[in-house]
Order: sequence, then structure tokens, then C-alpha cells
Amino acid sequence: MILIENTVKKVRETVKEWKSQGLTVGLVPTMGYLHEGHQSLIKKAVNENDRVVVSIFVNPIQFAPNEDLETYPRDLEKDSLLCNSTGADLIFHPQPEEMYPDGFSTQVVMNNLTAELCGKTRPTHFSGVCTVVSKLFNIVKPDRAYFGEKDAQQLAIIKRLVKDLNFDIEIVGCPIVREADGLAKSSRNTYLNSSERKAALILSKSIQLGKKMVADGEKSSQTVINAMTDLIKTESLAKIDYVSIVNAETIESVDTISGEILTAVAVYIGKTRLIDNFMITV
Ligand code: PAJ
Repeated sequence: MILIENTVKKVRETVKEWKSQGLTVGLVPTMGYLHEGHQSLIKKAVNENDRVVVSIFVNPIQFAPNEDLETYPRDLEKDSLLCNSTGADLIFHPQPEEMYPDGFSTQVVMNNLTAELCGKTRPTHFSGVCTVVSKLFNIVKPDRAYFGEKDAQQLAIIKRLVKDLNFDIEIVGCPIVREADGLAKSSRNTYLNSSERKAALILSKSIQLGKKMVADGEKSSQTVINAMTDLIKTESLAKIDYVSIVNAETIESVDTISGEILTAVAVYIGKTRLIDNFMITV
């Protein structure tokens, strides 16, 4: 059965032992309640590294006071079975006090890349992500770390973080894994009741529409955004947070579609906030 460690010290000892044998190490950071999306990251990590660490930590500092920290779903037993059957070697499952002991005072704050998209309504979120990911990088010291394109802004931010702070780690992006009907897999999908689950399809439908317009040659961001917005508004349970088109690396808005762009949506379905996106190079 897979090893589960709760302390920084134990993880460091294990990784040190692996490195002394010349083994490479992959890291998959998660908040748990693992699904096939997370599993695709773990699989890729297992294929590309000798040893794989999955961190499972619902990071309190990336949640704002009004968000779902308390209700965020947790199931360590099921998660450990999935990690084990997928070939991971170690789960790092710290308690908040282990990561943020009394006196903890440091934050990693990124200035650019965090202003648009999710940064607008979640202004403290990405400093929480950058801080915990920096800590995980320093604890595990992986050769490679795996992040999903599902959270495309987060992926761009982590790539920038690694460049800016000279982490000697390769960041590997992995494609979005979807349900059969198109809904992007997410731990938060468990919040949806059956009518909300149907309504949630409007996200992937709007993504398909936008993708087709861009593939067919539409160059005006506003035209694509308007069409996607109009489609989402046909769903009565949906409330738009944003529909945006940005440069995929800098996360700055673009008026004319060219180069590598990220089209992203965040939509409330009832009380649940869901995100989806597509990236395309024009
Ligand atoms: P979490 O939401 O658990 O996601 C962990 C990783 O799984 C992220 O890199 C995310 O992009 C990826 N992922 C989630 N759903 C996916 C899907 N349907 N297809 C592909 N990849 C998917 O993202 C976080 O946790 C946290 O912010 C974290 C980075 C762990 C820092 O706390």
C-alpha cells in the first residue's frame, strides 16, 4: 500500500533517499477528492519519473473567508487507493499546522498575471497558491511538477513563478479531462444537484462555440466573447463571472485574436462557481 506522510521531515528523508540512488522525482500538487483529471497528471508523472509524490492538502490560504474551505470535499481513503493503483509512491498529506505553524509570516505575491480572470473576483487566491506551491517545491524538490490546463491561469502563473524564483523544476501542463458529455471534471462538480449538473453543460458548450469561431477565422475577441456570453445567458441557472480572451502566457486581455490565446469562462451554477477554457495558437 502507498506510503502516506504528514510531516515535512519524513517527506524530505524519503526524497533524499531516492535522490541518493539517482532516482528522478515527479510532484503532483492537489487538494484531494481525486478524479480522472488528477489521475491523468499522476499517470504522466509516473511515466516520466522514477518516483512520484502526490500532495493532498486543502490549502486554507488560497480560500477567501466567503469561499468553500469548510465544505471542500475530502476522502483520503479513496484518494490513496487511486494514487496507489495509478503507481504513485508517496502521498504528502500535511495538516494546516504543519504547513503554517504559529508565526508563519511569508507570502509569495505575483504582480502581473493575477489581475485578470479569476484574480478579479479572487484577489488573494493566487498568492495562496504561489505560497503553497513554493513550499511544496522546496519540501519535495522534484525534477518535474504536473499541473492541469483546466486551471490555465494557475498553470501560467506557476510557469512564471518557476522562472522568476529560479526553481530548478520542469513544469508539465496536462490537457483537460472531461465527463462523457463535455463537462470538465472538477472536485466541485459534487456540489451540483441534478438540474444544476445539466445546466453546467453550458460552460463546455460555450467553450466549443468559441473554439469553433476562432478555428473558423474570427479575429475579434469581442465578437467571440459576445457570442459565448449570449449562449451562457440562455441557461437560467447560470450567472456569469467572466468570459475573457487573454494572451496565454501573460494573461493580458487581447482585442485581436492572434498568437497563443486563452479563452476562459467562470460561471456560477447556483452557488457553485465552475471554470472552463480552451487554448489555441492562431
Ligand atoms: P486541485 O483543484 O485539486 O487540482 C490539482 C491539479 O489537478 C491542478 O493542476 C488542476 O489543474 C488539475 N486538474 C483538476 N481538474 C482537472 C481536469 N479536469 N483535467 C486536467 N487536470 C485537472 O489546483 C489545485 O488543486 C490547487 O490550487 C493546488 C495547485 C494544489 C495548490 O493548492
